[in-house]
Amino acid sequence: MINIPKGTKDVLPQDAYKWHFIEDTAAEVARVYNLKEIRTPVFEHTELFQRGVGDTTDIVNKEMYTFNDKGGRSITLKPEGTAGAARAFIENGMSSGVLPAKMFYITPAFRYERPQAGRLREFHQFGIEVYGSEKPDADAEVIFAASSFLQKLGVKDVKLKINSIGCKTCRARYNQALKEYLAPNLDKMCPVCRDRYGKNPLRILDCKEEDCKKITAQAPRITDYLCDECAEHFNAVQAYLKAGGLEFTVDPDIVRGLDYYTKTVFEFVSGGIGAQGTVCGGGRYDGLIEELGGSHIPAVGFAAGIERLILLMENTAVPFPEEGKPDIYFAGMDDESRRVAFSLALKAREQGIAAETDHMGRSVKAQFKYADKIGAKYVAAIGGNELEEGAVNIKRMADGQVQKVNFADINAYVLNGK
Ligand code: HAM
Repeated sequence: MINIPKGTKDVLPQDAYKWHFIEDTAAEVARVYNLKEIRTPVFEHTELFQRGVGDTTDIVNKEMYTFNDKGGRSITLKPEGTAGAARAFIENGMSSGVLPAKMFYITPAFRYERPQAGRLREFHQFGIEVYGSEKPDADAEVIFAASSFLQKLGVKDVKLKINSIGCKTCRARYNQALKEYLAPNLDKMCPVCRDRYGKNPLRILDCKEEDCKKITAQAPRITDYLCDECAEHFNAVQAYLKAGGLEFTVDPDIVRGLDYYTKTVFEFVSGGIGAQGTVCGGGRYDGLIEELGGSHIPAVGFAAGIERLILLMENTAVPFPEEGKPDIYFAGMDDESRRVAFSLALKAREQGIAAETDHMGRSVKAQFKYADKIGAKYVAAIGGNELEEGAVNIKRMADGQVQKVNFADINAYVLNGK
């Protein structure tokens, strides 16, 4: 037998309703926030992620599914949704369209990580991206959209943490201070961090190695180095969050694992799923579009992990609304009545009624049992008498009540009782 690859999961038919609930909720948030869907390829040129996500990040360094295709091009399965959306934005000339351009996506993403609860190698993200505004209210709107999504799902005890990691100007000053602080302990840090020290010191704050974490615990904080413009922007974002009644904490340790961020970064974190508690992360990325060859278009967005949300909801007993059961089951006795049951089911379906009938050659008794098992609301058993009369006793399974209904009136009867 061939097994599923490590770090991937099947969504089985009995669990699909959970996904539908999350996807429907995402679509509803997108509707009220006026976000239009964008779909981009599952794979892109590797360079997009090297330049977009950043070649000092764990994602690009260690986690990408990269291969050469038969034409010798280096191709990578998307590790996240932002870079592909940004590429599409540039390539399709959307910067000369109406701004802001507000979009959302639901996409698979691939990262070669060590699988554990809430961490997979293939996972799915609901993300939104807003292009064209550098204003703090755009950041706040994106954060409110994420919050509203989580609220509509019914997840509890998720905390919002925000930070600002500044712009090019303040980042340069901060990097200098950070390097001065780290220099005496550099030889005690992991090789990756030693490499990052020269290329991108901020990334060191993201290291998961215990020794490195100990050293960075007392490091200078980016929030103390923000330039006036970034500080003002960060204050304004907070003012919008407060005005909308959203609780948050400022956490200077949030630097995010991707290089494109500028100014605002944020995460929604839960204690309900162990180590992988971040259900949603995002922030502003004012330099990405330019970095990828477009014009200067500021942007802000987030992505939430669908598997992580499902896990959190399961662990904390948040109910998923179950999907509909069959409205009516048509049982047939012999060949002729089975054909009539089959046709009645077809007619019912044409009217939008969920109808089921037997394909297993079961006895009428076994069909009743099966109809009960699949939760059919009504059962109509058709035999010789029913064929003669053109009418059938329809049983309401909830209370056993029986009603005689002409074949021609069955659909109206079921729709009335829906
Ligand atoms: P990210 O923080 O790397 O950000 O991922 C966003 C979310 O995807 C995480 O909060 C988590 O819920 C989920 N996630 C990430 N890795 C895994 C994994 N291995 N298994 C399961 N779930 C995972 C981004 O991807 C950015 N593109 C977000 C963004 C959009 N920023 C601006 N716009």
